Amino acid sequence: MRILAIESSCDETAAAVSLDGRTILSNVVLSQADMHAVFGGVVPEIASRRHLEGIAGVVEEALRRAGLRPDDLDAVGVTYAPGLIGALLVGVNFAKAYALARDLPLIPVHHMRGHISVNYIAFPELRPPFCCLVVSGGHSLIVDVRDYTDMRILGTTRDDAAGEAFDKAARVLGLPYPGGLEIDRLAKTGDPHAYKLPRAHVDDAPLDFSFSGLKTAVRNTAHNAAQRGEPLDAPGLAASFCEAVADILVPRAVEGAKRCGRDTLCVAGGVAANSVLRARLERESAAAGLHLYLPPVSLCGDNGAMIACQAYYEYLAGVRAGASLNARATLPISASFAP
Ligand code: KG4
Ligand code: ZN
Repeated sequence: MRILAIESSCDETAAAVSLDGRTILSNVVLSQADMHAVFGGVVPEIASRRHLEGIAGVVEEALRRAGLRPDDLDAVGVTYAPGLIGALLVGVNFAKAYALARDLPLIPVHHMRGHISVNYIAFPELRPPFCCLVVSGGHSLIVDVRDYTDMRILGTTRDDAAGEAFDKAARVLGLPYPGGLEIDRLAKTGDPHAYKLPRAHVDDAPLDFSFSGLKTAVRNTAHNAAQRGEPLDAPGLAASFCEAVADILVPRAVEGAKRCGRDTLCVAGGVAANSVLRARLERESAAAGLHLYLPPVSLCGDNGAMIACQAYYEYLAGVRAGASLNARATLPISASFAP
C-alpha cells in the first residue's frame, strides 16, 4: 500500500511516500529554520505562509522521487494535531483536497505518534509493545506503546518541553535558533561538572518532570557571571545543561519501561538527536537489561516519512477522516481520532 503523507505542524514543510508503512520511497523536507532564526524562534504566521508557498512543490517532489504518479497512490495521510494551528491547517487542507479529488482515503495522524514510528522505519524487526521517550520542541512524554495505535502516557513535562529548554538555554548562550544542535556541539568541548544545575522532581508523580528551574538556573548563571565581570565557561555550561537534561529524562524512561513490564525502550523526537542523551540511554538501558532502539539522527527531527509510516498503521486500525477534518493545536497522544 502506497501512502502519500504531509507534515506541516511547525516549521518544516514535508511530504513522503511509504510502501506498506515501513519502506520509505521518498522523504522531502523543506525547512524554514533560516527564516525563523532571524527572530530567535518560530513566528507562527510566517510558518503558515511559507507552508502555503512550499507545499505543492514539496508534494510534487515527493512523488517524483518515489517514481510515482498521483494515480499510483492508495491513501493520503496528514498531521492533524498537535502543532501551530495555522501551520497545521495548510497541510490538512492540502491533504483533504488531494484525497477528495482522487477519491483516496484520508488518514489523520498525530504528530507525536509519527515521531515514534521512525523506529519502525529504522528497525524492521521492532514490534509494539515497548516504552518510548518522546522528546521534541513542543512535547516531552514517556509513553507505553501498547500497540501501533494504542498509547498510554506514563509521564510528561509539567512546564517546558525538552527541546524548548534546549532552545531557551541556547538563547542565553547567544547561540542561533534552533539551539539544540548548537548546544550539543558546544557541549562536546565542555566539562559536564563545570556548573551545578538543579534536577527537579514532581512529588507524587515520579515519572513527570520539569525544566523551568533548570532553564532559570542557566539564565542566572550567565547573568551572575556578567554582573561580576567574570568570563562565562560557555562549553562548560552547555555540557552541564546536557548532563542535567539526561539526568532528568533517562532514569524516568528506564523506570517507565520497568513499570509497564516492557523489555524494550525506544526514543523519538528532535531531542533524541542529542549525543549526551543517546550515550546515557545506551549506558542505563544496558545496566537495566533493556533493549534500546535509537533511531538515526536524520529521522529524529520533523519529516514526512514518520507521518507516512504511522498513517499505514492508523489505516489498518480503521482510522479515516472526511471532508470535515479539522486541525487541533493540542491533543494527547493517547486520544483516538474523533471524526
Ligand atoms: O521533533 P522536532 O524536530 O520538532 C517538534 O516537533 O518540535 O524537535 C525540535 C527540537 C528543537 O527544540 C531543537 O532544538 C531540538 O529538537 N534538537 C536538539 C538536537 N537537535 C534538535 N536538542 C538537543 N540536541 C540536539 N542534537
Ligand atoms: Zn516534531
